Amino acid sequence: MAREMSGAPAILPLAVEGLTYTAGEARLIDDLTFRLEPGPRTVIVGPNGAGKSLLLRLCHGLLTPTAGTIRWSGGAGPDASRRQAMVFQRPVMLRRSAAANVEFALSLRHIPRDQRKQRVAAALAKTGLADVAGRPARVLSFGEQQRLALARAWALEPQVLWLDEPTASLDPAATRAVEAIIDAIHAGGTKIVMTTHDLGQARRLGDEIVLLHKGRIVERAPTADFFERPQSPLSRAFIQGELLW
Ligand SMILES: Nc1ncnc2c1ncn2[C@@H]1O[C@H](COP(=O)(O)OP(=O)(O)O)[C@@H](O)[C@H]1O
Ligand SMILES: [Mg+2]
Repeated sequence: MAREMSGAPAILPLAVEGLTYTAGEARLIDDLTFRLEPGPRTVIVGPNGAGKSLLLRLCHGLLTPTAGTIRWSGGAGPDASRRQAMVFQRPVMLRRSAAANVEFALSLRHIPRDQRKQRVAAALAKTGLADVAGRPARVLSFGEQQRLALARAWALEPQVLWLDEPTASLDPAATRAVEAIIDAIHAGGTKIVMTTHDLGQARRLGDEIVLLHKGRIVERAPTADFFERPQSPLSRAFIQGELLW
């Protein structure tokens, strides 16, 4: 893992300036300026409809901003997209085996064929899926499918992993398994940027918290500061479960 991560030029920090996304009159993402540094796990929280998913999709390059810039370090340009991965709330699996789903992702990134088998096996082993490698991905449980989505992302050895509510459809046991995998991916040197509406999860996984509300950043702080000493009344309301939209 260190081989490729140290070999490829760093795409972080990410500099976002004036990022705006509108639909009709609505400013769904409203003039955001921030930086994402390598290292700390950044957890984005906010009520339903705050713009969390839109923000991740914009940063990952799945949507084109209405205005503003998303600048990766070192002028990585289009190359930056190859050094990041994203996992969604509901995994989308191809109609083939678990292992083949991971291998396909590697082939899309032009990983040489002779390296793929080993990387597939390693990713499945690290996510506890070695035993189901040959099973059709779509018959796996939701929890297993989400771990497979993480294996698929991990195999790409991304510098940045975007996670959009990755445990929102899972029970507590499957949630803990996914959280452990996210921790392991982070320990391997990958920057984690995750959205969640689960404040317990934000405390467990976040090194820093960003509160998004109506497309704007209300507060950004180290996790303990955010929860123990929130600076904004909106943050206090959100922590108390009183900020509904
Ligand atoms: N492609 C789109 N076009 C128009 N409105 C959208 C689009 N995607 C999301 N929205 C709206 O933008 C707001 C933010 O959505 P979203 O980012 O999904 O919020 P969150 O993930 O925080 O719950 C919501 O009001 C949603 O209905
Ligand atoms: Mg969302």
